Amino acid sequence: MYTQALNARDAVAQPLSAEETAKSAAFQARVDDEQRIEPNDWMPEAYRRTLVRQISQHAHSEIVGMLPEGNWITRAPSLKRKAALLAKVQDEGGHGLYLYAAAETLGVSREEVVDQLLSGKAKYSSIFNYPTLTWADIGAIGWLVDGAAIMNQIPLCRCSYGPYARAMIRICKEESFHQRQGYEIMLTLSAGTAEQKALAQDALNRWWWPCLMMFGPPDGESQHSDASTRWKIKRFSNDQLRQKFVDATVPQAHFLGLTPPDPELAFDEASGHWRFGEIDWEEFRQVLAGNGPCNRDRLRVRRKAHADGAWVREAALAFAEKRRARKADAEKQAA
Ligand SMILES: [Fe+2]
Ligand SMILES: [Fe+2]
Repeated sequence: MYTQALNARDAVAQPLSAEETAKSAAFQARVDDEQRIEPNDWMPEAYRRTLVRQISQHAHSEIVGMLPEGNWITRAPSLKRKAALLAKVQDEGGHGLYLYAAAETLGVSREEVVDQLLSGKAKYSSIFNYPTLTWADIGAIGWLVDGAAIMNQIPLCRCSYGPYARAMIRICKEESFHQRQGYEIMLTLSAGTAEQKALAQDALNRWWWPCLMMFGPPDGESQHSDASTRWKIKRFSNDQLRQKFVDATVPQAHFLGLTPPDPELAFDEASGHWRFGEIDWEEFRQVLAGNGPCNRDRLRVRRKAHADGAWVREAALAFAEKRRARKADAEKQAA
């Protein structure tokens, strides 16, 4: 999962020197030509900063995204469900690692970006601040949250920055498995007892609107999208992606015999799109500001996991130091 169009506030162009202007023009020409920008290539500072923020926020979202679902691993209803959920949660951890590695190619350290998450300075996707109350939530997350992530991430496979684009190719393949396992849980519940179907409907009711918020603020309010679009980091606007998601998902809900919780949802024959009601942007702002149902709990759990892992980092460093010293000794004796 999950970039969220948490657009960069400080990616504002600074005045450039003549040399930088020329480099900048050459850079833009390469981007326009669909060439990939690689770590050692010259890039505008604002491009680098925008990518560091976007990729690190994306990595944080993967890692925090493990928490709501990890919560259900011990309570999965069968061995098969447990194995699939375990694999999915491990995939999300792997996505976080590829993305932290991609961010490091831009000159930031892992420690720095992790510290920004733990100190509450960095954002992650708002969706993970909602609780997973029943098993049906695991189905709804796979179907809707991973489904929304796929909409967002498929265009990122063509992002101008090579390491990010390549990481996204593998991530998208795994996300599509996540989406299917979630939808299959929803299919099973919807075809089950009245009580199971009610659980599935309740999960859809609670996850639908927060999933629409995952695409970020409406285009009119979205800052700095212009630069991201010009640099070919972003290929579609927030509203375009949200519409694609709604168009793809409403028929899937109907196939399950479920109803998205929006009385204004209606198919518009003329445009071929599903029209939907107003999103509660105040709720979105509150969740991003740290006041969602689970924000504090998510950070508390992450901080504890980081502190509990300190001995692993210390042991790895001590081992690396021991190997370095042994190698230096061996080289000295050989000389
Ligand atoms: Fe993921
Ligand atoms: Fe996923």
